[in-house]
Amino acid sequence: MKKAFVTGITGQDGSYLAQLLLDKGYEVHGLIRRSSTFNTDRIDHFQLMDLLAAINPDEIYHLGAQSHVRVSFDMPEYTGDITGLGTLRILESIRKTGIKTKFYQASSSEMFGAAPPPQNENTPFQPRSPYAAAKVYAYYVVQNYRDAYGMFATNGILFNHESPRRGETFVTRKITRAATQIKLGIRDKLYLGNLDAKRDWGFAGDFVDAMWLMLQQEKPDDYVIATGETHSVREFAERVFAKLDLDYARHVVIDPRYFRPTEVDVLLGDASRAKKALNWQPKVTFDQLIDMMVLADLELAKKEKTLLDAGYSCANVERIS
Ligand code: GDD
Repeated sequence: MKKAFVTGITGQDGSYLAQLLLDKGYEVHGLIRRSSTFNTDRIDHFQLMDLLAAINPDEIYHLGAQSHVRVSFDMPEYTGDITGLGTLRILESIRKTGIKTKFYQASSSEMFGAAPPPQNENTPFQPRSPYAAAKVYAYYVVQNYRDAYGMFATNGILFNHESPRRGETFVTRKITRAATQIKLGIRDKLYLGNLDAKRDWGFAGDFVDAMWLMLQQEKPDDYVIATGETHSVREFAERVFAKLDLDYARHVVIDPRYFRPTEVDVLLGDASRAKKALNWQPKVTFDQLIDMMVLADLELAKKEKTLLDAGYSCANVERIS
């Protein structure tokens, strides 16, 4: 039985990937962030090494990170530590324990930043946030460990990928949560930042297939994973509200708090290499993704409405903005 070790297993991608690996018959181990603040910094790397030596996984998927771009401007040092050095810590633990394993790094299309679209594996990085800079660092460290120590280490450069499991502070989910609540009369306004930014949005369930495929290849390489379509935040909001027979312009309010000091204007990926070498392509379309998210959040909003009507207060209603 193959064994996999997944960091960030409780996140959106971790949950889809764990399901995929279990379906393929893997024994799956996961690492999660502990929320208490024990002072274990100086021994944490021993724990990681012990863990890796004991599990001896065939494959490691490193998805854990501080992954919110806006938050990285408020917590740049923490982001550099977790998102940048976190990758180095795992690679060092692999090297020191000497385990033979394949390594997947969750690299990000944010690394392209200001580089004009379309972006592929040859596009020079122009990071525009502490998060993106930390991911660039991790990307190069993965390449260095591959070259220096002959590790099977790969970078999956994933463009944005969403689902009903997406965290509620990322823009797609923020929109589908709010729009469905507005539909049911739970709230009336949705506060957003820059509506003109464009993203290449795919379905997270499709994207984890690509992660697995990358580790089944003979040789390690780096791959862009994207849909090849780009849409603005405004268009995403417009479509979501329209599906609910609502006019986004009557409910969306621009709040400069959500602007970023430096923005990534357009992401549009060219996944030709992955299509050719991995035989991968996305299955869920932009419209299907929106349908899936709206449907799931409508169910959630109905439950909230029932609770509110029964006189209970509902923490989510406040938390979402
Ligand atoms: N989060 C958020 N909240 N974003 C907003 C809002 C808002 O209220 N209003 C406008 N936006 C814009 C952002 O400025 C950005 O241009 C775009 O919506 C997408 O923002 P996010 O959904 O937060 O995602 P991201 O593109 O910054 O980063 C995501 O994708 C990366 C891959 O390209 C994250 O998942 C990263 O971890 C990932 O690496």
